Amino acid sequence: MTTTLDRLTQEAGAPAFGRDALIVCDSLVRIYQSEGIEVQALQGLDLLVEPGELVAIVGASGSGKSTLLAVLSGLDVPTAGRVRVGDWDLMAMTSAQRVAYRRQMVGFVWQQTARNLVPYLSATENVTLPLALAGSGRREREARAAELLELLGVGYCADRRPGQLSGGEQQRVAIGVALATSPQVVFADEPTGELDSATSDLVLESLRMVNRELGTTVVVVTHDPGVSEHVQRTVAIRDGRTSSETVRRTHLRDDGTEHVVAEEFAVLDRAGRVQLPAEYREALELSGRVRLALEASHVSVWPDRPRVAPTQPTAAPQDGTHEGGPHR
Ligand SMILES: Nc1ncnc2c1ncn2[C@@H]1O[C@H](COP(=O)(O)OP(=O)(O)OP(=O)(O)O)[C@@H](O)[C@H]1O
Ligand SMILES: [Mg+2]
Repeated sequence: MTTTLDRLTQEAGAPAFGRDALIVCDSLVRIYQSEGIEVQALQGLDLLVEPGELVAIVGASGSGKSTLLAVLSGLDVPTAGRVRVGDWDLMAMTSAQRVAYRRQMVGFVWQQTARNLVPYLSATENVTLPLALAGSGRREREARAAELLELLGVGYCADRRPGQLSGGEQQRVAIGVALATSPQVVFADEPTGELDSATSDLVLESLRMVNRELGTTVVVVTHDPGVSEHVQRTVAIRDGRTSSETVRRTHLRDDGTEHVVAEEFAVLDRAGRVQLPAEYREALELSGRVRLALEASHVSVWPDRPRVAPTQPTAAPQDGTHEGGPHR
């Protein structure tokens, strides 16, 4: 399915939105109807994830994070928009393709430790289960399970059932289950939500290691406010849309030592919309109409109020760019 924006960009000779990305969410809308009330959980969400990336998704409760992950993991179908993961068009899959997508292309880790593992199977048996469904032989399955549990630092838990494991151990075994069939992408929805902060760090570190060592693309939803210190890119969702991104970069100081800088950016959507943070709007009482002005290197936003003209000239503007206010 092509959207109007795609058609326009293709006609203009520009590449389609997210052509080289592994995950493309294009103007995703998900509306829930319950008891006559309509909830817009996703309101035109755009998101691109490149192959091999580790992206954290943060946002207030109810902002649409789990809805997005349910769509991406093939459990839910959006009301409108376009969503592609690899070669899989998630809007147009048959139910058989949906099952194949969930078995081959993606793995999941959920918040509730109990939802990830079968309680009466050992850690090894839990990891081998998706491989048995995929039809691989017993020896191969057991070797893969041993390798994954070892990699995740829970090799010593191989013969224990979930009830005999701590929360952090259970979540690391769950990452093993998610990785069993070597999916290209792992989605994790608050995998650390039920854990204390030290254990959370361990589980997040396991996801980073999986991303680094196995090259698996990882999208993780988390409440952990410190996550942007640990991942390359953190996407914030507000009211069903991506509102800002924090990008972590490593700079080299003159003396050769490294320092990490996390910088937050607003996201400009494909229609040119950007969300001004509430504190900026409040500080300048920006609401309803605002004036935009194109400057040499930036765009300024002005309140729609007559500006009080100084009775007599005060100091000349430092850079001259604000003189006369916005162009109209
Ligand atoms: N099955 C459903 N039926 C009706 N409304 C739903 C359903 N699932 C989610 N919603 C609503 O959609 C919105 C987004 O919910 P979602 O679960 O995606 O939020 P979230 O960001 O994951 O929140 P949390 O951090 O609390 O997990 C909320 O207003 C929620 O009440
Ligand atoms: Mg949620």
